[in-house]
Amino acid sequence: MGRQLAPNPHVPPLRQGSTALYMGRCSQVREIVPRKRFCYGQVMRLDNRRYYDEFSVSYERHRHSGYHAFIDDLESSLVRRYVTPNSTVLEAGCGTGLVLSRIAPHVKRAVGVDLSGGMLRQAQTRKLHVVQGSVTALPFADASFDMVCSFKVLAHVEQIGRAMSELARVLRPGGFLCTEFYNTRSLRYLIKRLKQPTQIAAADPAIHDEQVFTRYDSLDSVKSYLPPCLQVETVYGLRVLTPLPALHKVPVVAPVLQQLERTAAELPGLRGLGGFMLVVARKAPG
Ligand SMILES: C[S@@+](CC[C@H](N)C(=O)[O-])C[C@H]1O[C@@H](n2cnc3c(N)ncnc32)[C@H](O)[C@@H]1O
Repeated sequence: MGRQLAPNPHVPPLRQGSTALYMGRCSQVREIVPRKRFCYGQVMRLDNRRYYDEFSVSYERHRHSGYHAFIDDLESSLVRRYVTPNSTVLEAGCGTGLVLSRIAPHVKRAVGVDLSGGMLRQAQTRKLHVVQGSVTALPFADASFDMVCSFKVLAHVEQIGRAMSELARVLRPGGFLCTEFYNTRSLRYLIKRLKQPTQIAAADPAIHDEQVFTRYDSLDSVKSYLPPCLQVETVYGLRVLTPLPALHKVPVVAPVLQQLERTAAELPGLRGLGGFMLVVARKAPG
């Protein structure tokens, strides 16, 4: 078993299986006990926290090399363009800290927030500063960070308008928001639509990836989620050219493909076809 999370002074103790929702301000906390599973059509959905608690045990199994490590490297290198050694950075939905640990050495203060205690316990073993909470009710004061980023998370958040407002609230005027979405105009989307559900929890074969809410977006839909104080600066495309993740482990092919992916990420015409869209927006100066 991992270590217990250090208590957060803003968060009262939670009942087993419950989620703290911060209602706008740090001092206003409401405790919600969610239903464990709920049904959408034929698929029994799990709430995000339960899904990621189960997934946390095996989450990093294939993420230290190949495709996944490359995507984490690319995400963190793009974010680093918008920070200085004096920046304060929040990663919303930091999970086990794979991306945050790549950003933290380059900034003054890096903080992660995540819904899942299972994921956060692993982030703590990396000596990262992490807090348990939801992206729809962040446990931070207004204008706390110079940069706020989020990877592979917002596509799994149903209350996306509320999440974007929260991310904007904790960002200082003039700061950058880097948020990643799953792209409808991509090969990855096509493959996901055709493939069978994938088991995600070694201990429970009944739990699979279609049991977590997932949304694919166009750039226009992403823009519609942004509060008026945010203006899009640029968009990067990730996984533009990779048909199969396994190619990132093939000698000779992998370094060539990765160099091409780095170029395609910012190439007009190609970057709009990435499996992931990294949208960089700036908050209006105060
Ligand atoms: C696919 S993982 C990505 C983790 C990390 N960003 C990375 O790139 O390795 C998605 C993470 O989002 C978190 N998450 C999902 N919904 C959330 C919410 N409403 N608030 C905060 N975190 C959430 C999950 O617990 C999980 O750790």
